[in-house]
Amino acid sequence: MTINAELLEKIIREAGAIALTYFDDLKNLEISKKGSRDLVTKADVAVEAFLKDQLAEEFPQYGFWGEESGKTDNQSSRWIVDPIDGTHSFTKGQYFWSICVALEVDQQLVFGAVYVPAVDDYYAALVGQGAFKNGQPISVSSEDQLESSMVATGFACLRNHLEENNLERFCRIAQKTTGQRRFGSAAMDICMVADGQVDAFWEQELNLYDVAAGALVAQEAGATVTDFKGNKGVFPKQILVTNGKLLDQLLPLM
Ligand code: IPD
Ligand code: CA
Ligand code: CA
Repeated sequence: MTINAELLEKIIREAGAIALTYFDDLKNLEISKKGSRDLVTKADVAVEAFLKDQLAEEFPQYGFWGEESGKTDNQSSRWIVDPIDGTHSFTKGQYFWSICVALEVDQQLVFGAVYVPAVDDYYAALVGQGAFKNGQPISVSSEDQLESSMVATGFACLRNHLEENNLERFCRIAQKTTGQRRFGSAAMDICMVADGQVDAFWEQELNLYDVAAGALVAQEAGATVTDFKGNKGVFPKQILVTNGKLLDQLLPLM
């Protein structure tokens, strides 16, 4: 199966340009609530509508699952799309938000792209062909000591008022590491592990559209992608992405 990665980059960059028109006019941005604490904006909806339309036109053989518009009938081979990952950051005029497009064929991720329009960073991977940022190969960091590492996480779980809410885990790990970050876009966090900017990332209570694209980029960059017990795979409810060298030091703290 050949995937036209150049055409996909063109479409995803066009989606980024659409997002930036809203980002450059935040005072007029329509923002609404989704659930108790989730936000959705006109930008999320417009970017997803554009991607759904373009992907259906260019690749009619695949179905679609988007965060805002839901699932089409064909879910055996599908695009998995988060039009804006980090919507809250977006509404505040921060740079940490991304456009996520993954292609899953017969339950195997075969393409993933995470585009960060505010800084024009385009992360992409085709399965088995390595990971790239702006066309240059990327790989995970060489950091092998937890106490000198930088980690990132998120607190999606707090929205669901869950008992098990990552706060205690964060405190355990924060005391054992040098740097901790909460950027606000899980997809971008995962790509920053792929690019060696962060040594590990974990979060719980995410959705597949938050993590699928970034997970393939990370795997192709040499990262481990597991659940909190170290089981290999993409588990949005419990995802742990590391540079590989820190996995064994982190697992007992998860
Ligand atoms: C959010 C981001 C954030 C994570 C939240 C997600 P959204 O995605 O990925 O980093 O902590 O749980 O919901 O809602 O802005 O698409
Ligand atoms: Ca998201
Ligand atoms: Ca989103």
